[in-house]
Amino acid sequence: MSDKTKLSTESYKGVRDFYPEDLFIQNYIFNTWKEVVEKFGYVEYSASLLESAELYRAKSGEEIVNEQTYTFTDRGDREVTLRPEMTPTVARLVAAKENELAFPLRWYSIPNLFRYEKPQRGRLREHWQLNVDLFGVENRSADTEIITVGYEIMKKFGAKDTDFSIKINNRKIVNALYGKFGLNPENSNKASKVIDKKAKMSPDGFETALEELLNDKTKDFISLLESDEKLLEYIGIENPDVKDLVATIDELLSAGIENIVFDPTLMRGFDYYTGMVFEVFDLSPENNRSLFGGGRYDDLTSLFGEKKIPAVGFGEGDVTMKDFLETHELLPKYKPSTDLYICLLGDEFRSKGNEIAKKLREKGVNVAVDLSQKKLGEQIKIADRQKIPFIICVGENEINSGIYPLKNMLTGVESKIKIEEVSAIIRNHS
Ligand code: HAM
Repeated sequence: MSDKTKLSTESYKGVRDFYPEDLFIQNYIFNTWKEVVEKFGYVEYSASLLESAELYRAKSGEEIVNEQTYTFTDRGDREVTLRPEMTPTVARLVAAKENELAFPLRWYSIPNLFRYEKPQRGRLREHWQLNVDLFGVENRSADTEIITVGYEIMKKFGAKDTDFSIKINNRKIVNALYGKFGLNPENSNKASKVIDKKAKMSPDGFETALEELLNDKTKDFISLLESDEKLLEYIGIENPDVKDLVATIDELLSAGIENIVFDPTLMRGFDYYTGMVFEVFDLSPENNRSLFGGGRYDDLTSLFGEKKIPAVGFGEGDVTMKDFLETHELLPKYKPSTDLYICLLGDEFRSKGNEIAKKLREKGVNVAVDLSQKKLGEQIKIADRQKIPFIICVGENEINSGIYPLKNMLTGVESKIKIEEVSAIIRNHS
């Protein structure tokens, strides 16, 4: 019979507990992100996960604000939101110091974010998201750099070009199309929301939804959306935004990024994007989904200050990244940070074990000393189950001879060595 007085060990719905093996993977993802973005000159910033609720009302996009935020009233009657994304926060930080910061500014952060979503594959209620943003550059050199950073991250994780594709679009081109079809700003916004959901709708459902806005012009509109060349010709190849998009793609192609494709239906949900938008997709049939994305948002800082600071960036979640790595068998094997487990052939050898551990720690070896007081076989099992790669045993014979058996738990090889030799052997191994 279950004991109703006991608390549940389950975590809150849609969030994760990170046991050491899970955190190992998350740290691997974070460290890989950091390594790549820092190579491109991005520096890290951070902020609190609590924000004033009004920050998101201005520009984030209705779905996120109305349906997905965790918002509460604090004891001082302020409306507070757990940040659902980092972009409004980073825009606030930049605007607050717009006269002191040296632009172009390359910033990154790995915040945890909260969205009240229906938990499913790739979507949870708390995730961590790499945010890479470049402030102060209005032209496409920043767009191409941002996409290049996203591409290099994929390569650093071991992905091949054929494993993923990068879809690119420009909001200004889509807006020009809306203009040519006579859509007012309100209906344009509605059309964007419909197009954003296209992949999740049937062709008929998509057509019907657009018909409400475009009437008898719907079929022409759809046929333009479905043919990138026709669309660009229709807007005009001399149109500066068309030229810019074509040049951005050309620059990326000639830099060796060959999996870039123009997709006029790529919207991205947020209202603040003003120009180029992009999204990276997994091409595996088992995980055919969006991995991450971003775009240009030149107006966001003007919500706070006088200046309009052009900006472009992207957000990449740890959940989708882990799914990708799992699908493509690119995840590293777990290895704990502990290098060595010292087994004791009796509790009377604990002080000698601690003395050896202290010496080795000074040499940079991470050492755990057994405290179980169990039989040797049981101690070895503990080290094995915790996947600690090396063990040594400390007993009377070892202390008298100064020679210790160091066992490599992966290969089973045992070497008789002096304590001074341990750190070199362990270092060679890792
Ligand atoms: P977003 O498309 O909402 O953009 O999120 C970016 C990425 O975060 C997604 O592609 C996905 O990897 C991850 N993500 C989002 N929601 C969830 C969730 N519920 N569970 C797991 N992962 C999730 C933004 O947030 C923009 N603020 C990105 C940006 C930065 N644009 C410019 N700079």
